[in-house]
Amino acid sequence: MLVADFDLTEPRTFHRRDLSEHWRRQRAERPVFWHPARGTGSQAGKGAFCDTGFWVVTRYDDVVDLYRAGDAVTSENGNVLDTLLSGGDSASRKMLAVTDGARHRTIRKKLVRSFTPRALAELTERIRNRTVAVVDEALTAADGDSIDVATRIADRLPIEAICDLMDVPAADRPQLLSWNKAALSADEADTEAFESLIARQEILYYFAELCERRRRSPGLDVVSALAQVEVDGVPLAEDELALNCYSLILGGDESSRMSAITGIRAFADHPEQWQTLRAAPSVDRGIEEILRWSTPSMHFARTAVRPIRVGSEVIEPGQIITLWNSSADFDETVFAEPDVFDVTRHPNPHLAFGHGQHFCLGAFLARTELRALFGELRRRVSRIELAGEPKRVYSNFLFGYSSLPVRFSR
Ligand code: HEM
Repeated sequence: MLVADFDLTEPRTFHRRDLSEHWRRQRAERPVFWHPARGTGSQAGKGAFCDTGFWVVTRYDDVVDLYRAGDAVTSENGNVLDTLLSGGDSASRKMLAVTDGARHRTIRKKLVRSFTPRALAELTERIRNRTVAVVDEALTAADGDSIDVATRIADRLPIEAICDLMDVPAADRPQLLSWNKAALSADEADTEAFESLIARQEILYYFAELCERRRRSPGLDVVSALAQVEVDGVPLAEDELALNCYSLILGGDESSRMSAITGIRAFADHPEQWQTLRAAPSVDRGIEEILRWSTPSMHFARTAVRPIRVGSEVIEPGQIITLWNSSADFDETVFAEPDVFDVTRHPNPHLAFGHGQHFCLGAFLARTELRALFGELRRRVSRIELAGEPKRVYSNFLFGYSSLPVRFSR
């Protein structure tokens, strides 16, 4: 079967199935295809435009070209399938990821200053110390037994780092983590829709209030930095501030958490790679391979503004285009033996952080967190074994696990 035979709008498609072989065939046989509207099966056929169908792009080079397509495409209708199919993103032109053009450039330029290695030097130290403590606590508590690394380790690191950066009071962090999980990484079909909506609202209310406080008495944190951003002399409105904080807390926590958990699973499945990482002069190449292997954001999306040729297809203005990072990162024309997890892989030009003008703002932070975690684990752990059934998140956007029982040998 090809990927075109599945419904990519359905989280169930991804839940208990490994699609890698289907993506491989799809890249080889029909690398760009029209996915019909949900519920219409595969009958609508290529090019038969209906306003809730969309293009699926699977090859690395095509995905990169589209990330770089400038004003031939827009993110302003939404940048993930769910929002695009439900009529567009209500945060359009208010939240960085769904803003384009000069406004995007101005806000990004100001915000990027809070994410440079220099700006994050102090936080890097804090991340390292916290990681040492969290790993130590987890290993001590496990005492040779199995632990769930999702809750005992991954739940406690990225959320703290992004909250440090935003100076969110310590007491509020567990609540934010729980809202984040409900918003994006639920693991049950029936709890997803309603709880996710409520959680998103709660995050927005929370940050609307925090932003108001930071406007009144700014500090050195990212929320205060956002509160001081002006575009053409006009400060960001209250809802723009809250929406950008929402995007930072979700982006800062979810994908980093997922890549850490998937990374640990990869070493449980490939014990020889754990020994290679332990013997390597640095963890850096291993981190890039974890990012490629996990590719937590399976797709991002755009809407065509002008006609665009992709391979043998012509995408018409107004049509939705989905860029499948999770296929591109396993494209055999770019990655030798892509289905081999190889922590010495180099070069490794994966698209886990996207590409082009919306390239992930938090890439340095995410790498810092992963470096701290796997650096500490390789110092303390000689073997990682799976100790139970991993539980996948229920999503057509996010790849990862909400539960991963493992046993660490010291
Ligand atoms: C954008 C992935 C961590 C904040 C993106 C994009 C990807 C991505 C693929 C591009 C979206 C697009 O093209 O539409 C990841 C992954 C992460 C991660 C895989 C962890 C492993 C973070 C962290 C933060 C963050 C830690 C914040 C502290 C953002 C923001 C954008 C973004 C604000 C929008 C940038 C823009 O539109 O200019 N991320 N991200 N991400 N990410 Fe991340």
